[in-house]
Amino acid sequence: MRLNLSLIISIIVAVGLIAFSFTFYQTLSERSKLNSELEKRTVQIAEEICQGNSAYLTQINHVNVDSFTDSINNKYNLVGLAVYYNNDSIIANNFSLNLMNSSLDYISQSIAADTSLGTFITSDGKSIYQYIKPVNKETISNNVIVFYNDAEYIDNIINRIWMRNFIRWFMQALFVSLITVFIIRWGIFGPINKIVDWVKAARMGNIDQLRKQPPAKFLAPLHKEIVQIAKAMHEAKASAEEEARLRTKAEAVWTPERLKVEMTNLLQNKKLVVVSNREPYMHVHEGKTIKCLVPASGMITAMEPILKACGGLWIASGTGDADKETVDKNGKVQVPPEDPKYTLKRLWLTKEEEDHFYYGFSNEGLWPLCHIAHTRPTFRREDWHFYKKVNEDFAKAVLEETADEEQPFILIQDYHFSLLPELIKKGKPNAKVAIFWHIPWPNPESFGICPWQKEILQGMLGADLIGFHTQYHCNHFLETVNKTLESRVLWDNFSVKMSGQTTFVKPFPISIAFTYKDFNKKPKIKASQLLDELGISAKFMGVGVDRIDYTKGIIEKFQAIERFLEKNPSYIGKFTFVQIGAPSRTLIKSYSDMVSAVETETNRINWRFKSKGWKAILLLKRHHSHEEIEPFYAVADFCLVNSLHDGMNLVAKEYVASRNENDGVLILSRFAGASQELQGAIVVNPYDIEKSADAIKLALEMTDQEQNLRMKQMRQIIVENNIYSWAAALLRTMVTIHN
Ligand code: G6P
Repeated sequence: MRLNLSLIISIIVAVGLIAFSFTFYQTLSERSKLNSELEKRTVQIAEEICQGNSAYLTQINHVNVDSFTDSINNKYNLVGLAVYYNNDSIIANNFSLNLMNSSLDYISQSIAADTSLGTFITSDGKSIYQYIKPVNKETISNNVIVFYNDAEYIDNIINRIWMRNFIRWFMQALFVSLITVFIIRWGIFGPINKIVDWVKAARMGNIDQLRKQPPAKFLAPLHKEIVQIAKAMHEAKASAEEEARLRTKAEAVWTPERLKVEMTNLLQNKKLVVVSNREPYMHVHEGKTIKCLVPASGMITAMEPILKACGGLWIASGTGDADKETVDKNGKVQVPPEDPKYTLKRLWLTKEEEDHFYYGFSNEGLWPLCHIAHTRPTFRREDWHFYKKVNEDFAKAVLEETADEEQPFILIQDYHFSLLPELIKKGKPNAKVAIFWHIPWPNPESFGICPWQKEILQGMLGADLIGFHTQYHCNHFLETVNKTLESRVLWDNFSVKMSGQTTFVKPFPISIAFTYKDFNKKPKIKASQLLDELGISAKFMGVGVDRIDYTKGIIEKFQAIERFLEKNPSYIGKFTFVQIGAPSRTLIKSYSDMVSAVETETNRINWRFKSKGWKAILLLKRHHSHEEIEPFYAVADFCLVNSLHDGMNLVAKEYVASRNENDGVLILSRFAGASQELQGAIVVNPYDIEKSADAIKLALEMTDQEQNLRMKQMRQIIVENNIYSWAAALLRTMVTIHN
């Protein structure tokens, strides 16, 4: 209210000042125009009179002056006329004595200067223009005629202008004030009040409320910032509560905040650099805009929360078609885009490098070599050449980025960079280097078919620490080293000694960012509702989320579903399996063949059980963001992870983490690393279609009590072994290694 009042007063004063200045200027020029018109007119009259009566004027005296002035006044409508004769005697006037007296000074001036003189005077409160004209100089000296003309009308005109402009000013000020108050109240205070309500809601812990309604567009940037602040406050509050809860329960669950503190202690200001091939954020063109995607990758699901919690530098290949447009001159961009926490540095591969390094050696060589999924690895000399070249380029980039660092911590990700540890150590022996192998390590015989197995092992053994998901993979690796290289494998502490360097080989089962504060999120939708939106009417729903990859056992999964429906026809029309499948590495034939095979199998099974408004399998074949996948996890009666061979498989953990009500069932392949931790799952052999079909029935018919028991146990395991504890364990181990 006070703001409104002072605003209105300010507007009135401002508009008033402007109106006053304009009116002042207008009246000045109007008055000067009218004055000069009056002057001109009076001069003309004076000239006309003097010329027309020159003879008579020489004889004018007290007797005849009255008739002269009367005739003039009548003819020219003057308010008065005076004749001044011989210095000091006024011989005639038809006007007041006051007026004559006020003219005397001017008359003397006119006579002294011997020139006409026009001035405005006021007499009896009236404005008058007087024009003094000397006449007949030759015959009678000091003889003047004074013409008095009415100037009152000029004042009247000027007054009218002031009045008109005052009314206009008043109306304008009124309208502008009203409109401004209206705009402020509804256009500015309205949205601001909404933001205030939202922030209050966030303060009270209702963060979802804050995201509900975007405010007026002009406040959007402010809204975005406030949402971030509120989110940060909310998170800080939640973790403080969680910390407090943990303190009282004497538990030691890892949170992002705890990891941050731990990292600061462990790293002691040393730089943390993560290296991977796949980048955590990818910019792509979508129509005229640029969109930021998180690629489908278990490695990213795991690593991203660590960088978000602790900051640092992540070096990766830039593969999005808008990636180059979004980085600075050093190839860097701050991410996550909406709330930057760390730096992503993109390196650019040529098409040839991508072909041979990524598609060729990494994904047609090492990937099938390490996954026992019966797809034959292909090894080409040219691919190996480029694999070495790209590893060297990444090593160069890491060394450049850490040039000023005494002892940086380098965390290398995956099979794309097996040569990187040795290359980095050569350039910077002080660096602490770890490589984490996100995929399985096969037995020595299987690995032995790789023509460059020695170089790969040697490259990896440049690291201080090599991590796998399971002890089983560590053992395979150590056996492979034992059989291939001249080195000492120390089985008592799982390390390898070679050329004066010791490398520890340890299991670190990777995980997801799951903390107690995520325990209470509620599913917002029911399975049948979600399916309804997708045009399917079914009561029960299963879900699968995979990159379309031959290691994921998608075909076997579909065959198990087919067999389940065959054996349990009462579920036909009532149960649908939703398979979210992100096409992946499709330039490789085995992958594009897999996409076709998955589609063909879906169509075949759906055709077989065809029924109106229902499908046995709903294949959603495109990249889905985490936010898009979440509702499916939250409502599915079961999740089927059917990998033929998998390092860990984080989909299994994500599904469990999303089951806040401890319901739902996880069916998990025994060949996924996760099956060793998630004992509450129904574990299956994906090659055994019959048993997998039975597992589906078991899942759908499991009692609530049993579901609860299993789910609670798995959730506890994941929360206690989340990605923050993984990172802490890995870094603690790195710190304790002294080479
Ligand atoms: C696996 C690998 C990751 C890889 C991901 C996606 O999870 O361990 O390193 O990023 O697959 O594969 P892509 O080839 O698309 O990066």
